[in-house]
Amino acid sequence: MSNNKRVVVARLLLPAGRDLLEEKFDLVDGGLAATRDEVLALVPGADALVADPSVPVDEQLLEAAGDQLAVVANYAVGFDNIDLAACHEHGVIVTNTPEVLTNATAELAVTLTLSAARNTSDAERRLRRGEWTGWDPADFIGFELSGATIGVAGMGRIGQRYAELMSGFGGEILYTSREVKEGVEVKLGARKVEFEKLLEASDVVSLHLPSLPATRHIIDAVALARMKSSAVLVNTGRGSLVDSEALAEALESGTIGAAGLDVYENEPEVPRRLLEAPRTALTPHIGSATDRARDEMARLVALNVLAVLEGSAPPNPVSLE
Ligand code: GLV
Repeated sequence: MSNNKRVVVARLLLPAGRDLLEEKFDLVDGGLAATRDEVLALVPGADALVADPSVPVDEQLLEAAGDQLAVVANYAVGFDNIDLAACHEHGVIVTNTPEVLTNATAELAVTLTLSAARNTSDAERRLRRGEWTGWDPADFIGFELSGATIGVAGMGRIGQRYAELMSGFGGEILYTSREVKEGVEVKLGARKVEFEKLLEASDVVSLHLPSLPATRHIIDAVALARMKSSAVLVNTGRGSLVDSEALAEALESGTIGAAGLDVYENEPEVPRRLLEAPRTALTPHIGSATDRARDEMARLVALNVLAVLEGSAPPNPVSLE
C-alpha cells in the first residue's frame, strides 16, 4: 500500500487537472455515471475530494470520507451543492474555480438572450420537423436588442461581463446588487435599481445570483407578473432561482415573452412543461463549456488540491463563515 495521499474525484476531472494530481497522489475517480452509493463507497480514506455541482457534499459524505479529509475542491464556481457548515465542523477546506469561467458563462447568457429574443428555438424545431413551408413575413417575429433595456440581477463577475457584452447592443443597463458597482456605472452608464423596478422596466432580465435560501424562487408567479409581456428571462445561474412551474405557466399564457435557460431545479431532470413551453431556448448546463474555461477550471481544481495537501493556502478558498 502506498503512502501517497489519496485524491478521490467523485465523477470526472479533465486531464488538464487530473494529470497534475496523478503525478503526486493516488487518484481514483467514480466516472460520470457514479451513483451516490458508488461515491460513498469511494471516499473512505480520501485526503481530497473533487466534487462538482451534481455531487452533494453533506454530513453523510464527510463522515464516510473520514477525519483525514482536508479539502473539497469543487469543479465549479458555484458551491450550493456543498454543506459549508458541515465542512467547517469537520475542519475541511472548500475551494472553487472563480474567474476562469466568467467570460464563457456570460457569453452563453448572451447566446440565450439572443436566441430567446428571436425565438430561434421554435423556429429550429419547426425546421427540423420538416414543417417549414417557406418564407413568411409574419412568422417568428422577435425583437431587436438594439435599444432594449437589459436588467442584470446580480452584478458579480459574470453579471458584469454580461452587462459589458450586452451594452454593445446600445441599450440601457439596469442592475441589482447589494452595493453600487461604480465600474459598470461609469463605464456602461448602468443604473442600480430595486428588484421590482428591474422586473417592470426591463426587456431582458438575466439572473446572475448565487443559490441561497434568500434567492430561492426569486422568480416566482408574482415576479413574472411584474415583467413586461414581451420580456425575455435568462437563467445561467442556478435552477433554484426560478419556480419552473410558474415559469412554464407564464410562457404558456403569454405573461412573459420568452425564456433562455441553462440551469434547472433538479438537474438533470427538466420539467416536461418547460421542454414543451413555447419561445423557450434550453441548454443543458453548459455555461462554462468552452475548451479554455473547462481546462482552466480543471487546472484550478488541481492547484487547490495540491496547495492544501502540500500544506499551503489554496488559491481559491470559499469562506466557511
Ligand atoms: C457551474 O455551474 C459553476 O458553478 O461553475
